[in-house]
Amino acid sequence: MNIGSPPKTALIFGGSRGIGAAAVKRLAQDGYAVGFTYANSEKPAAALVEAIVGQGGEALAIRADSADAAALTSAVAQFVDRFGKIDLVLVNAGLFRMNTIEAVTLDELDSMLAVNVRGVYLSIQAAAPHIVDGGRVVTIGSNVAIRTGFPGSSVYQMTKGAVAAMVKGVALDLAPRRITVNNIQPGPTDTDINAGSIDMLSQMSPLKRVAKPEEIAGLVSYLAREEARYMTGASLTIDGGFTL
Ligand SMILES: NC(=O)c1ccc[n+]([C@@H]2O[C@H](COP(=O)([O-])OP(=O)(O)OC[C@H]3O[C@@H](n4cnc5c(N)ncnc54)[C@H](OP(=O)(O)O)[C@@H]3O)[C@@H](O)[C@H]2O)c1
Repeated sequence: MNIGSPPKTALIFGGSRGIGAAAVKRLAQDGYAVGFTYANSEKPAAALVEAIVGQGGEALAIRADSADAAALTSAVAQFVDRFGKIDLVLVNAGLFRMNTIEAVTLDELDSMLAVNVRGVYLSIQAAAPHIVDGGRVVTIGSNVAIRTGFPGSSVYQMTKGAVAAMVKGVALDLAPRRITVNNIQPGPTDTDINAGSIDMLSQMSPLKRVAKPEEIAGLVSYLAREEARYMTGASLTIDGGFTL
């Protein structure tokens, strides 16, 4: 019974659209008070807050570019001001730009490293002091850390490989506080990142479809549960058999 105890809280970095927004909704349904960051999508972020509050939940949207270290620290401070503690951190914000190595620009390289690697690390680092003992950290990597099969993905693949490696070290750092740190590696998922490619990706998949964002959010929800407390440092691939 939780009567009288405050709700669990979840901070999602990159929660306004796609997989992040599905996780925000799922965690709110699971009873979490949720706060999430976004970079540009002010209207979708406000609509998401309104929908959750309309259903009796608690939600906060915070504009914070994951490439900006100070913005990440400020986002954590705003979240803690409002909710007091962090039970779960989900680091979802990520960029995908396709180009072969002959064509990748310095800006593409730097922006993907800044958001997909540095931003992930800094998000966890900023949140860590406020995560309760026994709390959860979840990152969203990608199945491309295992295999891509497409030319033009070298930078993205490198960033997601870095996330899979990163969670192992961070899991050891936070283990004394019983905080688990795991990485979800989705395959192609029906979000804006894949606009225009869903049919092609579906044909390539053994299950002949891409994932729904809600299916990835379901795995976040599982990792948040008490029964998942012994899993840490793991990368969990959920890709309909894409990398088999
Ligand atoms: N979709 C796939 O097939 C797939 C497969 C494997 C892994 N992933 C990974 O899953 C994650 C989510 O992807 P998605 O498909 O849901 O993408 P999406 O639909 O493009 O949504 C990306 C989300 O991240 C936020 N975001 C992006 N850059 C940000 C930044 N610099 N600072 C703060 N927030 C930022 C966006 O905020 P704004 O709305 O404000 O831009 C948005 O909420 C990414 O890490 C991606 O690499 C996706």
